[in-house]
Amino acid sequence: MHVERLALVNLRCFERVSIEPHPGLNVLLGENGSGKTSVLEALYLLSYGRSFRAGGSGAVVQRGAEAATIHAVVRDGNGTHRLGLTRGQRDWVARVDGQPVGTLGALVRLCPAVCVEPGSQLLVVGPAEHRRRFMDWGVFHVEQQFLEAWQHYRRALQQRNALLRTMVAGRQAEIWEQRMAEAAERIDGLRQAYLTRWFACLKQQLAQWLPELGEPRWHYHRGWSATEPLDRVLATTRERDQVIGHTRAGAHRADWTLAFAEAPERHQLSRGQTKLLAIACVLAQFEIFRAGHGEAPILLMDDLASELDQSHTNRALRYVRSLDAQVWITGTQLPADISSMQVFHVEHGQILPSRSSA
Ligand SMILES: Nc1ncnc2c1ncn2[C@@H]1O[C@H](COP(=O)(O)OP(=O)(O)OP(=O)(O)O)[C@@H](O)[C@H]1O
Ligand SMILES: [Mg+2]
Repeated sequence: MHVERLALVNLRCFERVSIEPHPGLNVLLGENGSGKTSVLEALYLLSYGRSFRAGGSGAVVQRGAEAATIHAVVRDGNGTHRLGLTRGQRDWVARVDGQPVGTLGALVRLCPAVCVEPGSQLLVVGPAEHRRRFMDWGVFHVEQQFLEAWQHYRRALQQRNALLRTMVAGRQAEIWEQRMAEAAERIDGLRQAYLTRWFACLKQQLAQWLPELGEPRWHYHRGWSATEPLDRVLATTRERDQVIGHTRAGAHRADWTLAFAEAPERHQLSRGQTKLLAIACVLAQFEIFRAGHGEAPILLMDDLASELDQSHTNRALRYVRSLDAQVWITGTQLPADISSMQVFHVEHGQILPSRSSA
């Protein structure tokens, strides 16, 4: 799938811009603070319903404006859709083909994107929540039942947490613990199946990006004991959970980690290796999505060259060019070979196409 047109209104430094990107590689060039990341952020918002930057989603609204809007025409194997996403001071309003949609889920399924940005290194060195989100995005797009299982789980978890705080948990909590346990088993099964496929794909990526690290291993923690059902675990931890006021074990605490023969601890990786590992993780996710849907998601790479040496940057450029997918890259310098790509110059609140070639 790819974006045929993108328009931004009152989004960060852009008052009103509209571009027609290349179906393949698009490179956004500009000085620091010119707005390159904001363009990728807009595409990410359409795909995830939230930003990858700190500051909350309201921060995307241009200072002094009431609301920010992103319009996009996206084409997939079934035709085109017009997507609209408006952020006011508090809420999102999503539209598909001119009609409001009740949940962001209906919009984000139509604009799937995978993204490498400076914060992606948190996938490797950050807290579990980053890895959980990454894994769940993949599962959500490949397994239709995941969303329902997750919604059931979250509702039951919220009910249990509310009961814990009233200090009268006991029998009532048991009902919700059982529901959590049922949904957690389903979530765990889907996550494990996804990660198994993803890791097989990741191994191939790592062989080209980080061969020096040796054999990779992955470890998955489902969020509670690997041998006991969740309701039994929760029954035994109920009193302790009451003291802290929330549930410590369950599918909401899942995590996965990677280790290498030549770098058993994640903090032994250099900054460039950490970035290359994040790139490999995302490209494996890209491939699993494409295999499941028969269509590639959009690939976003913010500040591709930062932390990478010239040879890795060139290799990454050659690789993404060969993907047969829409790719968006930002940078401050023109790549050496600009054939078959659209270069946009981002400056003074404008996005100007500089050259287009087949
Ligand atoms: N809500 C806002 N309203 C107006 N301007 C904003 C808002 N949020 C950010 N900006 C400005 O928008 C500009 C775009 O920032 P962005 O991070 O997209 O730049 P960039 O081209 O990616 O820079 P860099 O090369 O440093 O990564 C910055 O000058 C920033 O100060
Ligand atoms: Mg930037």
